[in-house]
Amino acid sequence: KIEQIHAREVFDSRGKPTIEVEIRCADSRAGRAIVPSGASTGRFEACELRDGDTNRFGGNGVLQAVSHVNHEIAAALTGMDAADQQSIDRALCDLDGTENKSRLGANAILGVSLAAAHAAAEAQQLPLWKHFAQLWQSAADLGQFPPPTAALGQQPLMPLPMVNMISGGLHAGRNLDFQDYLILPVGATSYREALEWIITIYHRLGRLLTEKGYEGVLVGDEGGYGPKLTSNVQAVELVIEAIEACGLKPGTDVAIGLDVASSHFYDGTHYRLAATGDERLNSGDVIDLLEKWVSAYPIVSIEDGLAEDDWEGWQELTRRLGDRAQLIGDDLFVTNRRRLEKGLELAAGNSVLIKVNQIGTVWETFETLRLALQNGFWPVVSARSGETEDHTIADLAVATAAGQIKIGSIARSERLVKYNQLLRLEEQVGHDAYQGGRIFSALKS
Ligand code: PGA
Ligand code: ZN
Repeated sequence: KIEQIHAREVFDSRGKPTIEVEIRCADSRAGRAIVPSGASTGRFEACELRDGDTNRFGGNGVLQAVSHVNHEIAAALTGMDAADQQSIDRALCDLDGTENKSRLGANAILGVSLAAAHAAAEAQQLPLWKHFAQLWQSAADLGQFPPPTAALGQQPLMPLPMVNMISGGLHAGRNLDFQDYLILPVGATSYREALEWIITIYHRLGRLLTEKGYEGVLVGDEGGYGPKLTSNVQAVELVIEAIEACGLKPGTDVAIGLDVASSHFYDGTHYRLAATGDERLNSGDVIDLLEKWVSAYPIVSIEDGLAEDDWEGWQELTRRLGDRAQLIGDDLFVTNRRRLEKGLELAAGNSVLIKVNQIGTVWETFETLRLALQNGFWPVVSARSGETEDHTIADLAVATAAGQIKIGSIARSERLVKYNQLLRLEEQVGHDAYQGGRIFSALKS
């Protein structure tokens, strides 16, 4: 039973205010969680409530959200069973009463939803991932998911990390147009081995950039290097060079992923590449460009290749590249089951990014995850560019057997806290529960 709910304003990895919530149950068992925050946010995300008082943190304070937790939400939820996540999350949604959680704030709501899970785990003296696994198993009519997701969503599973090496876009001062150039260690046989490869490649890439006269030390919001290169594609080539320099094979050992984050350079009619010249592309041109890249390089995953409203473009992208690459909708789906339903109906994309704060509660996150798995979409559990010492998503990814996780790079402790938590979890879950690159064996090369 929840006895006390308390929120406070704390700060994220960009020094931006965010909300921390503590929930105390009987026997003084307590749980705590901190809410993350994006920079390249989708237009259809649940609403993060900010004070707007420009005299405090440029209007970014969250004291209203804090107050909503400490008063209205605390009054409504005290006495409820912290382990009944579904009822807690439903109560939060009902209390808010809006479609996008704008009244109480999705940040207030998510803080409580996550803290309830932590408190329930503590009260049962279970590690968080085990509590999540119980919730997930009870929530889901797991049955057998269709290929290529059959192995996912079942018993707890260590995820394949998709890791940012070079940052661009809104995370690195728009040095490059595309936001993330990532690696996927598809050939590694355990999470620990995957992480070792990633760290080796990351450091090799830093040296390589410096040797070539680019910025190879300072990092962006997610810990990736932020060099000013001569073209967007040069970033792909440099990452491949770093993989090879480590004695690993691009494609079979380590594949490439992109987060184009194209909503953020789309002007409503054209995609405007500005970092290395001034190019105006339409959807078809962007698809041609991505197809060329997929043919020339071992790229197996493309996130937000097109903008959040460009459904027709997404359909064409999926027709052209859907059997050759994972096409992840981030801004497109915003972890929202209704947007994902539309994507399924239109055959737009084949994968969904799962960010807890885009939708605002644990239970709704589970619902979107389940919908994805039931329909053969690969889910990728993801952090935000604004993160903290909170490691909840690592536990969530393992418990739901989502198969993949995206946390940013392997520099900056708000990232490492999740990678390190996964190392701990691997000791409990076991190496044989590592899906690794098997997820991608369904793709045509
Ligand atoms: P964001 O970036 O947290 O700034 O939205 C992450 C992403 O685009 O995947
Ligand atoms: Zn994204």
